[in-house]
Amino acid sequence: MLYKYNLAVIGGKPLCGEVTISGSKNASFPILAASLLVDGTVTLQNIPKVQDIINMLTLFGSMGSKISHVDGNIVEINNADISIDNMQYDLIGSMRGSILILGALLHRFPEFQLTLPGGCNIGKRPIDFHLDGFRAMGVNITQQGDVIKFSRSAKLSSAKIELEYPSVCATENFMLAGSLAEGTTTIINAACEPEVVELANFLRSMGAKITGEGTDTINVTGVKQLHATEYKIMPDRIETGTYLAAAAITRGKITLKNVDYPSVFEIASQLIAMGVDITQQADDIVIDASAKLQAFDLVTGPHPEFPTDMQPQFCALNSVALGESKIIETVFENRLQHIPELNKMGANLERTNNEVYSSGGNILTAAEVEATDLRAAAALLLAGLAAKGETIIKNAHYLSRGYESVFSKLSNLGATLRYL
Ligand code: EPU
Repeated sequence: MLYKYNLAVIGGKPLCGEVTISGSKNASFPILAASLLVDGTVTLQNIPKVQDIINMLTLFGSMGSKISHVDGNIVEINNADISIDNMQYDLIGSMRGSILILGALLHRFPEFQLTLPGGCNIGKRPIDFHLDGFRAMGVNITQQGDVIKFSRSAKLSSAKIELEYPSVCATENFMLAGSLAEGTTTIINAACEPEVVELANFLRSMGAKITGEGTDTINVTGVKQLHATEYKIMPDRIETGTYLAAAAITRGKITLKNVDYPSVFEIASQLIAMGVDITQQADDIVIDASAKLQAFDLVTGPHPEFPTDMQPQFCALNSVALGESKIIETVFENRLQHIPELNKMGANLERTNNEVYSSGGNILTAAEVEATDLRAAAALLLAGLAAKGETIIKNAHYLSRGYESVFSKLSNLGATLRYL
């Protein structure tokens, strides 16, 4: 579970030095879920030690998965003898990624029940796309309050599933379910996010037949059996983007190691447009943000549009950059709770519905602020790093959901932080 803490940040210093990027949280969720599709031992390298993934592994443990942490970020997982009898349902409600076990469990058990997934409070986040798609694959589904019952009388069948919106986890769930279903499942209006491509690569390494990942139509032809594999999970693109933004807001110069540049292309391009110097060197990125930042408009959207998971951090950036700008959030209806908090630090942002207007050129000052979710916490942390004086971030523990060793990584870059 999430251990609560507040954080004091003494800002006003440019970050400098090196930071190594951890494995991707949002790629680890579906890959862990995919390990439920095989009996053998799956070895995963670069699993991030973040709270959401620790909770996912604890959830697996409660199902009887045998998990060994070989070394830091390497996990061996064997799901041969799982059962749902002692599943820790409260963990399902603690994260959104838990919905991804559904596509795999439907192959393992003809009948079971789950509670609704949780996750950051950034919108309603319904699961209707998931349920509609699984119904099309032959699953009977009934819901009473927070409890959903699933049953099937035969093997999952293939289906043509057209998503109303390119939902990331729904796309991944149908890839997982389709891998062992009878026939070819087609996902239309599929999400194109790098984590979807990563899941396809992982499933293929287990023997799955998938084509079209990274485009809006994915075909998954079910095979009789998948086999165990060893796989290294891609670097986290939102952690990468957040450190790039941290360098930019503090006018620092840092090297990010173990980076997947193509997956952060949209974020890097936006920063370059703002006047930051970014150079790619193999798996590293060097960012030099000594020049003044110029504010820029952006609109979030499904990949390859600008990622919603970086919108709060860019609200902080635009508030200090020169010139007027507008940020429009189109993915989640309640992902602007950081705006009043940033304003307590002098950001001077105006929110109208899902739009944030910035007049730009503000000097941030330390204040006591409260984080409401993971990426809002990241935005406040960036603002705190830029502001002179001591900023207190209440509920800073949200950071631990998605940023591995954030305290020590930032301290190594010269930041002054204190747990409260
Ligand atoms: N939606 C529905 N019905 C559904 C599913 C989604 O209406 O059944 C709507 C959502 O309410 C939202 C939109 O579709 O308005 C997009 O949601 P999506 O399903 O794509 O989001 P997700 O799969 O739940 C993943 C990431 C999020 C990231 C989004 C968008 C994981 C575990 N989570 O969520 O990550 O913001 O895609 O890229 O992969 C984060 O890391 O901070 C985070 C929130």
